[in-house]
Amino acid sequence: MSGNKDFTHLDLYTIVQKEKMDSSSTKLVIYAPDVAAKVKAGQFLIIKTHETSERFPLTFSDWNTQDGTITVLFREVGFSTIELGQLKVGEKIQALVGPLGNPSEIHNYGTVVMACGGLGVAAAYPISRALKEAGNNVITLLGAKNKDSFVLEKEIQKVSTKVMYVTDDGSKGKKGFVSDLLRELIDNKEQIDIVFVIGTPAMMMVTSEVTRPFSIKTVASLTSIMVDGMGMCGACRVTIDGQIKFACVDGPEFDSHKADFKELMQRSKCYRDEEKQAIHEGESCQCQNL
Ligand code: FES
Repeated sequence: MSGNKDFTHLDLYTIVQKEKMDSSSTKLVIYAPDVAAKVKAGQFLIIKTHETSERFPLTFSDWNTQDGTITVLFREVGFSTIELGQLKVGEKIQALVGPLGNPSEIHNYGTVVMACGGLGVAAAYPISRALKEAGNNVITLLGAKNKDSFVLEKEIQKVSTKVMYVTDDGSKGKKGFVSDLLRELIDNKEQIDIVFVIGTPAMMMVTSEVTRPFSIKTVASLTSIMVDGMGMCGACRVTIDGQIKFACVDGPEFDSHKADFKELMQRSKCYRDEEKQAIHEGESCQCQNL
């Protein structure tokens, strides 16, 4: 949260706060009162950093209706996110569209497990907050590479009844994966009414397989490749229960037991070579400009 400040003198989509969360993750607070006034947990936005930049989706990790800001947290892994991460406080994002997609279905389910891999926690935080406010018992499972890779820990603790950690190297919590923690909860006969899973397609696929034999309702947030975010370009196509759906307008949340994660993984990889090329060319440009 950026507090209650007066940003009304600023142009729309000006960055008012920037924070490096770890070596590759960045948090931006952006002045966007029109968006902040409407956003609900589970929705996303499309960003275009500069006039010539590509459009790409990011989930909201927070918003403040009083000062008119939205917060996004992203890993600088591809050309578009690296470009966004280069903007400084006071600079403007060229275009921003949102909120897009359907909000999460928030009800009093009973006990909810939020299973988050890596930066999935950024999208999970507002959903957990809304679920807690609706009276749920929220158990959060957080998975990361190592003890230094966790973000938003304090925020997540505030909206969770219990937080369990797992790391690839065992440096915080157990060594293993989020799916292992979920299996442990089920083995310990924890009453689980619904699971929300947010992470990479591979993480969501594996985690969803843990709940399938027990018929525990499991919802995955499918942030596939997106361009227009309005159901027209077809870039975000996913297959759910054998039917084509568009993640941007039909989702982004779907019954994960019906999602074709293998196809999603394949589609996520299809622009990898172009991405590497764009990063390489971007680096060359920066060198020439030194
Ligand atoms: S992003 Fe274009 S149809 Fe969904």
